[in-house]
Amino acid sequence: MSLDLKGKGINTRVTHAGENPDSVHGSVGVPIYQTSTFKFRDADHGARCFSGDEKGYIYTRIGNPTINTFEEAVTELEHGFGGIATASGMAAVTAAYMTYLGAGSHMVGTDAVYGSSRMVMENDFSRFGAEYSFVDTANLDEVRKAMRPNTKLLYIETPANPTIKLTDIAACAEIAHEHGAVLVVDNTFMSPILQNPLTLGADIVLHSITKFINGHTDVVGGVLIAKTEEEFNRLKAVINNTGGTMDPHQSWLVLRGMRTLSLRVQRGEENAQKLAEYLEAHSKIEWVRYPGLQSHPQHDLAKRQMKGFGSMISFGVVGGVESGKTVLNNVKIPQLAVSLGGYESLIQHPASMTHHNIPEAERIEAGITDGLMRLSVGTEDVEDLQADLEQALALI
Ligand SMILES: Cc1ncc(COP(=O)(O)O)c(C=O)c1O
Repeated sequence: MSLDLKGKGINTRVTHAGENPDSVHGSVGVPIYQTSTFKFRDADHGARCFSGDEKGYIYTRIGNPTINTFEEAVTELEHGFGGIATASGMAAVTAAYMTYLGAGSHMVGTDAVYGSSRMVMENDFSRFGAEYSFVDTANLDEVRKAMRPNTKLLYIETPANPTIKLTDIAACAEIAHEHGAVLVVDNTFMSPILQNPLTLGADIVLHSITKFINGHTDVVGGVLIAKTEEEFNRLKAVINNTGGTMDPHQSWLVLRGMRTLSLRVQRGEENAQKLAEYLEAHSKIEWVRYPGLQSHPQHDLAKRQMKGFGSMISFGVVGGVESGKTVLNNVKIPQLAVSLGGYESLIQHPASMTHHNIPEAERIEAGITDGLMRLSVGTEDVEDLQADLEQALALI
């Protein structure tokens, strides 16, 4: 019998979600079903599995016990109906676009989304006749203005990457539903520990598992979680047929990483709050954007829709890009690398790295300025991180 998680706290849920005791050998760890296909007992059994009259595994692209364990676990944390694990975060984003858009349909998206989430729409989905408007979704008037009769999808990322601007999820759910569109939320920056978009009215939540959920900077993956059976079935049909699915070993690794998610998120957030306050008071720092600071223009929204402020900080140094490079090249603990949400601190320069392919004018308009540095705060000792930043800033 699986543990009943109803009414249990987040730490118990992240530890035991999806647990399905092994009735054969009693293994506590989840077995890896490293197989591409499953043998039917007889011809009728095979036919019943295909028709859906009997539940059973058929083929790993369609379903696999190790993958399903991870999907059930993350679905439990996001309060959804069902989840579908994907090969990468971008496979999840693409599957959402593919499910809800077609020739002549339109989507409204956050202007400062992850670079590829914007590029795949502008360069690729547009070739198939889908229309798009990327706007500042932190401004609800802009969202309302951008909606059209053919808008099928409202796609938001909050906090946005890397501007750390927030979008009001509940308000966007209302706008989307008034227009007969679905609301998809990229919740990567918060993880299911700090924000649950489905409980705020969203229809679909997605994550790049590569980040906080796996948390160990050693696996790429993604997941989509639907609030209803209907949306789950729509997404699953598209992903099963297009094939951007996760594999069993990858699922086993990300489930292993996820068990410590709440501990890592808690520690990262404590560190980030202290570092954001330290940076804000520093004479070599021009500005800091972190939802836990009173100075964040949407600090009240952060308190309302998030359960914590996360561990992503953006900041600009006095002297612009050249001074920023001095920091990037001289910090010793945060590694100069893209990605985020791992146990270790990482620092990067979005304008020349993750968002380099967005045309300059669009990038600047979205708030991704040349001087913006992005810091993903890890689980190190905060005193060491602060001392390291101090010695790098002193070189400016
Ligand atoms: C917010 C966000 N969404 C989606 C993605 C894409 O995920 P992946 O790199 O796992 O494909 C990323 C990657 O950095 C991201 O930061």
